[in-house]
Amino acid sequence: MRGMSEPAQPSISHEAAFGPATPYRDVTCGDLRAGDEGRDVRIAGWVHRRRDHGRLHFIDLRDRYGLTQLVINEAESPEAAQVASRVRPEFVLQVQGTVARRHAGSENADLETGDIEVKVREITILSEAETPPFYINEPDAPVDESLRLRYRYLDIRRRPMLERLLLRSKLVQAIRECHHRAGFVEVETPILLKSTPEGARDFIVPSRLQPGSVYALPQSPQQLKQLLMVAGMDRYFQIARCFRDEDLRGDRQPEFTQLDLEMSFVDEQRVMDFVEAMIVEVSAAVVPDRPIQQLPFPRIDYHDAIERFGSDKPDLRFGMELVDLAPALAAFGETGFKVFDEALAAGGRVKAIVAPGMGESSRSQIDELVSFVRRFGAKGLAHVSVAADGTAHSPIAKFLGDERIAAIVKTATGQPGDLILIVADADHERVADVLGRLRQDLGLRLGLADENVLAYCWVMHFPMYQWEADLGRWHATHNPFSGVVPEDEKLLVTASGDAYKPSHADPAGRARAMQYDIALNGWELGGGSVRIHKRALLERSFALQGYTLEQMNELFGGILEAFDYGAPPHGGIAMGIDRWAALFSHQTNIREVMAFPKTQSGTDLMLGSPSLPELEQYSDLGLRFVGVEPAVEPGKDKAAQ
Ligand code: AMO
Ligand code: AMP
Repeated sequence: MRGMSEPAQPSISHEAAFGPATPYRDVTCGDLRAGDEGRDVRIAGWVHRRRDHGRLHFIDLRDRYGLTQLVINEAESPEAAQVASRVRPEFVLQVQGTVARRHAGSENADLETGDIEVKVREITILSEAETPPFYINEPDAPVDESLRLRYRYLDIRRRPMLERLLLRSKLVQAIRECHHRAGFVEVETPILLKSTPEGARDFIVPSRLQPGSVYALPQSPQQLKQLLMVAGMDRYFQIARCFRDEDLRGDRQPEFTQLDLEMSFVDEQRVMDFVEAMIVEVSAAVVPDRPIQQLPFPRIDYHDAIERFGSDKPDLRFGMELVDLAPALAAFGETGFKVFDEALAAGGRVKAIVAPGMGESSRSQIDELVSFVRRFGAKGLAHVSVAADGTAHSPIAKFLGDERIAAIVKTATGQPGDLILIVADADHERVADVLGRLRQDLGLRLGLADENVLAYCWVMHFPMYQWEADLGRWHATHNPFSGVVPEDEKLLVTASGDAYKPSHADPAGRARAMQYDIALNGWELGGGSVRIHKRALLERSFALQGYTLEQMNELFGGILEAFDYGAPPHGGIAMGIDRWAALFSHQTNIREVMAFPKTQSGTDLMLGSPSLPELEQYSDLGLRFVGVEPAVEPGKDKAAQ
C-alpha cells in the first residue's frame, strides 16, 4: 500500500487529460496553423458551410474553438467524397486527413486557421441534422427572439451568443480569482429556504414531508451571509442564484445571479475600497480595451444624485445635468404661468435639462418627448428653443414674458441650437424621476455617451426609510438589515416598546443608511451596506417597518437569536452578474448574456415551463388547485361584483 504521505500520481499524462484530444479528435477546429503542415489529424465538429466545385468538395467544420476548412477530392478519396455529398449544414462529422497549406491567394486572413486546410481521407457522420429554423452561419441575420429562445441550443451555436457566454464565464472566473486571492471563502447557501424579503414576491415550494408548509426560494442570501459572519467566516463570497417574482424588464429576470459578499470588522470605506479594487481588476481582465472613466470612482450623495441627474444610478458618461429654474424665476416674482406657480407654491420644483442640437425639433418630435414624460407621470413638458442667432422661442413665452425666458436660457446655459426641456410638478420626486429618464434617453439617442467607456460611480447616504402612507409604516428603502449612520442611530429611539406604532412623525424618517450602491453607465449594478449587528437596534428598525415582536421572531427569529451570541460588525454588497455581463457586452437586455433565460412573461419556451404538475404531485403535497381568484377592481369589493 502507498504511504499516506506520498501523493497519488495520476496514471494519465497532463496533456491527455487536459488537452483537446479525445477518442474522436486530436485537435479542435481552432487549433491548426501553417506550422502543422503535413500533420495527420483527426478532427470533429459541425458542418458550418458546404461548397461543391465539381470534383472538389469544401466543408467548413465548426466547433467552439473555430472553423477549419476541409477539402475532399473525389479523385483521391472517392469514398469520402461520396459521404461528403450527403452532408448538410449542422451535421456532426469526424474526419481524418492531412494538414496542407492553402494555395497562395486563397488564404483567409479573417480566420486563425486561414492559412491551412485539411485534405480529407475519411469522413464519418456522427449525427445528422434537420434544417435549422434559422441560419447558424449568418450571425448577423435578424432572428425573432422567441425562435432563438425556443431553439436556444442552436442560438448558442451562433458566434455572438457564444461569445457573450464566453465573456460571462471569464467574468465569473475573474471574480472568483480576485476573491480567493483576497482570502474570501466561497460558501454555498441553500436554495430551499425561508422568505428573505428583498422587496419582491417569493417563489414558494411546497413541502411533501410537512404538508401545508412551504420553502421560499432565496431573493438573496442576505441573512445567511450575515449568519456566516456570526459564525466567524470573516470573508464570504458566493456566485449566488436568486429568485424574485416580480414584473420583468430588460434588466430583470425572475432567476438571476449575484456576486454576493460579506466582510467582518469593516466600515463602509473598507468594503467600498475592496469592491472598487475588485471591480477595476475584473474589468481589466474581462474588457481590457474599455477605459474606466474616473478613478477612484466618484462618490455621490443620494440627494445630489437625485438633484443633479434625477436618478440614483446616474449615467456619468455625459453631463446634461438637471437645472433648478426656481431661483431664476423668483427674481421676477410670480410668473403668471399657472403650471409653474402652482408647482412652486406647493413646495414642488420647476427644473430643466438642455438637449444639445435639438433646437430645431419638429412639432411631432416635441410631441414624442411630451408623451415620453407623460408615460412616467409628468403632467406636461414645456420647451424653449434657442435659435442659431441666440434668440429664444417658446410657446410659454406668452405666459412668462421674454425676460423670464431669457433668464431660463441663461440659468440653463442654453447655447444656439439647444432645446431646453422643462418639467414642473408639486411632487419634487416626480420632477427628478421624469427628467432623469428623459436625460438618460436623450443622452443615448444624441450619442453623448461614449459606448466604450465604463463610468462606475458610488451613490451613498440613502435615506434609511420611506413612509408608506397606505400601510402606516416605514419601509427600508434598500435592505431591512442595513445599518444606520452611527450619528443617526439616536433617531431610532422612539421605535421601542410593545406599545410603539410607526408614525410619519418618527425622527427615524431622517436617518441615513450606511448603504452604498454602485452604478455603471446608468444601470444599478450593485448595492450593499454595513449592517445592524445588535439585536436591540435591529428590533427597533423592524418595529419602524411595522413588525410586532411576535412577527419579528416568526420571520427573523434566527438572525435575531444569532445576534445574542456575539455578532461582529459586518457589511457587504451584492452585484448583478447578469447586468455586469450585459454592460460589458454592450447589451440592453440581460437575456442576451443568460444561457437559458425566461421570456417577458416568465416562460421557458424551450422546455416549456412553468407547466402543470402531475395529479399525484398535488396529492403528495396535500394540495388542491381551486383556481385563481378573480382580481378585485379597485373601489369594488367582492360582494359588489
Ligand atoms: P439588491 O436587491 O440591490 O441587494 O440586489 C443586488 C443586485 O442584484 C441585481 N438584481 C437583479 N438582476 C437581475 N434580475 C433581477 N430581478 C434582479 N434583482 C436584483 C442588481 C442589484 O443591484 N442582499 C442585498 C445585497 C446586500 O445588501 O449585500 C441585495 O440583494 O444588479
Ligand atoms: P397648457 O396650459 O396645459 O396648455 O400648457 C401650456 C404649455 O405648458 C404646454 O407646452 C405644456 O406642455 C406645458 N406644460 C403643461 N404642464 C406642464 C408641467 N407640469 N411642466 C412643464 N410644462 C408643462
